Amino acid sequence: MSLAKQTLDSIDFAGKRAFVRVDFNVPLKDGVIGDDTRIRAAVPTILAILASGGSVIAASHLGRPKGKIVEDLHMDPVAERLQTLLGSNIEVKWIHDVRGDLAKTAAAQLEPGQVLVLDNLRFEEGETSNDSSMAADLASMADVFVQDAFGTCHRAHASTAGLPSTLKPAVAGKLLQNEIEAFDMAFGSPKRPVVAVVGGAKVSDKIVVLESLLDKVDTVLVGGGMAYTFLAAAGIGIGNSLCEEDKFDVARSIVEKAAAKGVELLLPTDHLVADNFAADANTQIIEGALPDGWMGLDIGPETTQTYSDKLRGAATVVWNGPMGVFELEPFSHGTSAIALVLAETDNLSVVGGGDSVAAIKKNQVESRITHISTGGGAFLEMLEGKELPGIAALDGR
Ligand code: 3PG
Repeated sequence: MSLAKQTLDSIDFAGKRAFVRVDFNVPLKDGVIGDDTRIRAAVPTILAILASGGSVIAASHLGRPKGKIVEDLHMDPVAERLQTLLGSNIEVKWIHDVRGDLAKTAAAQLEPGQVLVLDNLRFEEGETSNDSSMAADLASMADVFVQDAFGTCHRAHASTAGLPSTLKPAVAGKLLQNEIEAFDMAFGSPKRPVVAVVGGAKVSDKIVVLESLLDKVDTVLVGGGMAYTFLAAAGIGIGNSLCEEDKFDVARSIVEKAAAKGVELLLPTDHLVADNFAADANTQIIEGALPDGWMGLDIGPETTQTYSDKLRGAATVVWNGPMGVFELEPFSHGTSAIALVLAETDNLSVVGGGDSVAAIKKNQVESRITHISTGGGAFLEMLEGKELPGIAALDGR
């Protein structure tokens, strides 16, 4: 996929209405936002458009309401947070409408310097089905399309695929531009050696990622539950650890392909094991094969040391997925160790995925990471080398 897309710099926003597709799909409980990173990340684009004389129609989905209005999923808390982040000099309006007369009238009345937040795009059935009449309604409200919802660019929905094909010009906002540039730094012509850290529970979730990485990186460090399928496929005892027996062939083939391509693929050599999947389980460190009755829930100290040394010797690092059961504190240390060693080095680091980003934040080392992606599924699909519909639909350079 060509990632060379037009950006805000190619547009004169003076007097224009920009439809900015943002990803404000933030964790929300009882109306309280758990983490506003995605809202903060959209602010530079909004400010840039307003500063050059334009107005902004910001639109996002929130959760998965499946084409129906769900009272808890209106955009009000998100719009309020945006208002706080932008400050009282900028007027943010929000409405309970997506594509009807209320939305169209509010958009038509927008003055330069103002922001309008539409309601949850997924209240409309036409959003996820990429309905052309929904795209046409949204297009009728604005003069320019700006894509800044990297986290949703893997979805071919009305606001991400249909709209930028209908409303031109269609360009990348600053958040998306940063995401694209980070991938380009890591995979375009990266400084070598390139080391990928891939973790997570299941091999089945990461097969395509691993296969795609084998063409791009020098070393792959594998951790998390998925490592046990690789170890079991190699005939090593894994006790009661997570295992996908139907993926043994795939695991073996990935190991063979890595060897054939000269890519070093490392698996954990020691483990923090537990007698139960619980924070208060009995634990011990085991090297090599695991005894029955014990399950591996984190990488052990020797593996942490080996992986840390590889990361210290890397010029470029891409990281997706935890090394252990990060949500249970006793098994979060391997993942935190990766975050801390990345923070120590000056290598170029690109990190994406819930637990990996959570480990960076928990250890407060955000400023030491070159790029922290706002994408979950979108980040994975980029790693898989797929073309993302939300990026493909933008105007090329
Ligand atoms: C995300 O949170 O990964 C994006 O906002 C996409 O959400 P979705 O998985 O519901 O499409």
